[in-house]
This record gives sequence, C-alpha cells and structure tokens, in this order.
Amino acid sequence: MRLEGKAAIVTGGASGFGAGIVRKFIAEGARVMIADINGQAATALAREFGDAALGWRVDVSKDESVSAMAKAALETFGAVDILVNNAGVTHLPSAMEDVSEADFDRVISVNVKSVYLTAKHLVPQMKARGKGAILNVASTGGVSPRPRLSWYNASKGWMITATRGMAIELAPAGVRVNAINPVAGETPLLKSFMGEDTPEVRARFLASIPIGRFSTPEDMGNAACFLCSDEASMITGVAMEVDGGRCI
Ligand SMILES: NC(=O)c1ccc[n+]([C@@H]2O[C@H](COP(=O)([O-])OP(=O)(O)OC[C@H]3O[C@@H](n4cnc5c(N)ncnc54)[C@H](O)[C@@H]3O)[C@@H](O)[C@H]2O)c1
Repeated sequence: MRLEGKAAIVTGGASGFGAGIVRKFIAEGARVMIADINGQAATALAREFGDAALGWRVDVSKDESVSAMAKAALETFGAVDILVNNAGVTHLPSAMEDVSEADFDRVISVNVKSVYLTAKHLVPQMKARGKGAILNVASTGGVSPRPRLSWYNASKGWMITATRGMAIELAPAGVRVNAINPVAGETPLLKSFMGEDTPEVRARFLASIPIGRFSTPEDMGNAACFLCSDEASMITGVAMEVDGGRCI
C-alpha cells in the first residue's frame, strides 16, 4: 500500500499505459481520477474500482476543460497529491515536411500545452500544501529519436526539459517532478508509431529493444508508482527510461 491515503489524477487514464498506471495506483491504495477525452471509457474503467476511482472527461489541451478537471478533483478528494500527465497523441510516421499543420498542432497541444495547463491549475495547491508529485509520460523518442516521427519526438524532448525545469523550480516548495521514457509498448497507440502492424515492422522495432519485448502498461504502472511514492522522496528531475535497454 505504497500510495495509501494519496489522491491522484491520471490523464489519458482510460487506455494503454494510463490504465496500467491507474490499476497499479489503486492496488497500492490511492484514489484516482481517470481523466480522459474518452469520458465513456474513463467511467467504464472507474466502475471496476468502486469508490477508489472516478471517471472524468477532459480535453487536456483546453484551458477551461483542465480547469474543470482540477476543480472536480479538488472537490472530490480535498487535495491532489499526484498528477500524471500521460495523455498523448502522435502523427503517423512520415517525412517531417509532409506532416500536416493540423497534425503538428494536435501533437503540440495534447503533448506539450497540457503540461502547462495542468501545472497552471494544480501546482498552486501543491505549493500551498508543501508537497506533491508530478509525473510526465515522455518517451525514448525524446532521447533517441527514430526517423519519421520528428515532431512527436520533439514534443517528448520538450516534456523532458519541462520536467527538469519544473523540478528545479518546485523543489524548494516540496513538489517533485519526474518523467518516464517508455519504449514502444503494447497499447492502441503502437500501430500509429509503426505505421502498419505487420510481423516485419514488429520485428524491426523489437530488434532495437535489447530485452527483446515491447513494454507493457504494467511496466509503466510499476515505474510510475515508485516515482510518485514517498520511496522516491529524494528523486526529482529524472527522466527514467523504461525501455529494456533501448537507449543504452
Ligand atoms: N505506446 C507506446 O509505444 C508509447 C511509447 C512511448 C511513449 N508513449 C506515451 O505514453 C502515453 C500513453 O500512450 P498509450 O500508448 O497508452 O496510448 P493510448 O492511445 O492507449 O492512450 C492514450 C489515452 O489518452 C487519451 N487522450 C488523447 N487525447 C487526449 C486529450 N486531448 N485529453 C485527454 N485525454 C486524451 C486517449 O483517449 C487515450 O485513452 C502517451 O503520452 C504516449 O505518447 C507511448
């Protein structure tokens, strides 16, 4: 019960890595707001956990929507101890100059602007309480980019720099900020990274992961739980690879 008594928000919590983080947090004693643009899926997942979870529809790229999410979480839980910025999207693999402006804007608003908006609406109460943990779900692509995902990778590189900047600014206030860098994982988003889900493309991706398998939502739940728990109270500003050795 490493998160007993803590309240968390997990954005993009209805699917993939986010859902893995939600499951682990609840197993470790936290209460969790599952905040997702797919409100139905968020509510459906929350139903599995009774009073420990609450489904909430949010668009993390919109100020009013994030403001309403923060207000609802504070009203429900009294305080928010943990914020996981996990919601993310990608453009399809493509030459950098062929990515449409609409796709570029979508990637930046969901992956980048959301970190600013959640900080705007949740950091003040963390500072006031003198504690809190924020976790940004970035990517190995932010450290070691693959070709044809340039703007997605750059959004994750931004997230890693934001993590370090937030960490140094918030350390004196008792708020820790870390990131995890997942390698390609078995989630609905994987197909979008691969372009097409064929045995050949899978084999090419797997060949770059020394441990020899894709990552899983459980891997991310375990890493997220550690970094957001008091066991990691001396750890801030790290972007931890959860990547089976890919970035070595
Ligand atoms: N799957 C991978 O291979 C991989 C690798 C590295 C990093 N990541 C990152 O992990 C995170 C989770 O990805 P995943 O693979 O679990 O994907 P996923 O598509 O399974 O889940 C993403 C969730 O985010 C939600 N979402 C999308 N836009 C949103 C918005 N504007 N507001 C609120 N919610 C929104 C979706 O509805 C979905 O439930 C993302 O940030 C992604 O970039 C994934």
